[in-house]
Order: sequence, then C-alpha cells, then structure tokens
Amino acid sequence: MFSLSAFRSALTLSAAQPVRAMSVKAAAASATTKTRTKKASSTTSTKAASTKGKATKKESSPKPKTKKVAPVKPKKVEALSMPKRPSTAWGLFFVEHLDKVRASGKAVVPTTETVIASAQWKQLSDAQKQVYKDKYNANLIEFKKNTSKRLEELTPEEFKIENARRQALRAAGKRGLPSLKDPNAPKRPLSSFFRYAQDQRTTGNWSKAPEHEKSRYTELAREANEKYKAERAAYLAANP
Ligand SMILES: *[C@@H]1O[C@H](CO)[C@@H](O)[C@H](O)[C@H]1NC(C)=O
Ligand SMILES: *[C@@H]1O[C@H](CO)[C@@H](O)[C@H](O)[C@H]1NC(C)=O
Repeated sequence: MFSLSAFRSALTLSAAQPVRAMSVKAAAASATTKTRTKKASSTTSTKAASTKGKATKKESSPKPKTKKVAPVKPKKVEALSMPKRPSTAWGLFFVEHLDKVRASGKAVVPTTETVIASAQWKQLSDAQKQVYKDKYNANLIEFKKNTSKRLEELTPEEFKIENARRQALRAAGKRGLPSLKDPNAPKRPLSSFFRYAQDQRTTGNWSKAPEHEKSRYTELAREANEKYKAERAAYLAANP
C-alpha cells in the first residue's frame, strides 16, 4: 500500500542529495582556489623581496586576500522566439501619443509624456476608448492565431529546451511564464472518474455508482491509459 511517510522521505532524499553533492563540489573548488591564492602570494613576496623598497599597498594590508569563488553559471539558453503579446488599449493610445510628440519635434521625456497621455486618456469618451479596445481585441485574436501556428511549427526538442528554461526561471521566482504545450503531443486520457462524469453529465455520482459500473469505467480508463502510453512512447521515439 502507498505510504505517505515513505513518499515524503523519498521527496526529502531526492531534494537533499543534489544540494549535498553541490556543496562537496563547492568545497573542492574553494580548496583549489585557496591553494592557487597561496601560490600566487608566495610568488608575489619573492618578487617583492627582489625589488626592495617598492613596497606595495597590497602587501601592507593586514588581511590575506581570499578571493570568492564565482559560482559557475549555467550556460544561458536563448529564449525561443514567440509572438509578442499585443499592447493593451491604453498602450496603443500611449504609443500613438509618443509618435505625435516625436513628429512635433519635441524631445520625448517618457515620465512627462506618461502623465500627459494618461490625463488625455481619462478625458476620452467611451466611444473613443472603444476604438483602441477594438484594435486590441483584433490584435489579440491575431496573436492567438500566430501563437497556435508557431506552436505547430516547433519540434519536440524545442519544446523540451524552452520548457526547461522556463521551469528554471519559475524556480528562480519568475511569474507568468507557463510551459508551452505541444499541440502534437499525445493527450493524457481521462481518468475513470472523469470519463464517468462526462458520460453521465451532471446526473451521475461516482461515489454512488454501482460496482459493475465503476469497474467498467476503470477498465475503459486502463485501456485508454495503455493506448496513451504506447502513443507517447512512439512520439518520444520519433522525436528523440
Ligand atoms: C501575426 O503574424 C504576422 C505574420 O508574421 C505579423 O505580421 C503580425 O504582426 C502578427 N500579429 C500579432 C498580433 O502578433
Ligand atoms: C454523491 O454521493 C455522495 C454519497 O452519497 C454525496 O455525499 C455527494 O454529495 C453526492 N454528490 C453529488 C454531486 O450529488
């Protein structure tokens, strides 16, 4: 039977291990640096001895130099190019305002123009604002179309790399960057419960369903799951 505490300790273990492994590496790295620093300073003092009189400030400093080990940065992964979310109604109005200011030959001070444009925006009638809202809505529809088209073009490898990049950014606290869904990946099937709910619409009640009904749906879900696993394996094999 599934044990929650076993699951928890498994989680703790897998979470703790990479950290421990990292700190061993970091210690090794810092030891190497210390040795190097020592060597470097002994070279310096030999040099200093041979050029007497030229005492440097560094040597009179009481503290020994302990250079910090720069953390090894993971190779930066380029963001995948995706259609850009369109500007809001206000954003469109603001850009139009900036263009007018530029056309007039005036120097653009963004903070000043934000205040001016924002006051003008508030003065617009609903009908005037609607012009910008309509433009935004049209852009949004186009953006969604462009996005679906782009997702269709991406390879499973590109999804993998981009989603790993996004996952790392989310782990570092970045928000609003969900993983991309491959429209061509096999879809995970419904569980027996959801399959039953879908068939029965709102009239069904899984917990009240007779055993033979439940086992029928459990069997359907099992079959669908087998099919999904096979499709997914084929998908992964075709797209290594
Ligand atoms: C959609 O894609 C077309 C063609 O690449 C582009 O010209 C247009 O600006 C895009 N629109 C949006 C809202 O992303
Ligand atoms: C389904 O049946 C259970 C057990 O009788 C009950 O507690 C629950 O409220 C019911 N749910 C619905 C959606 O009718």
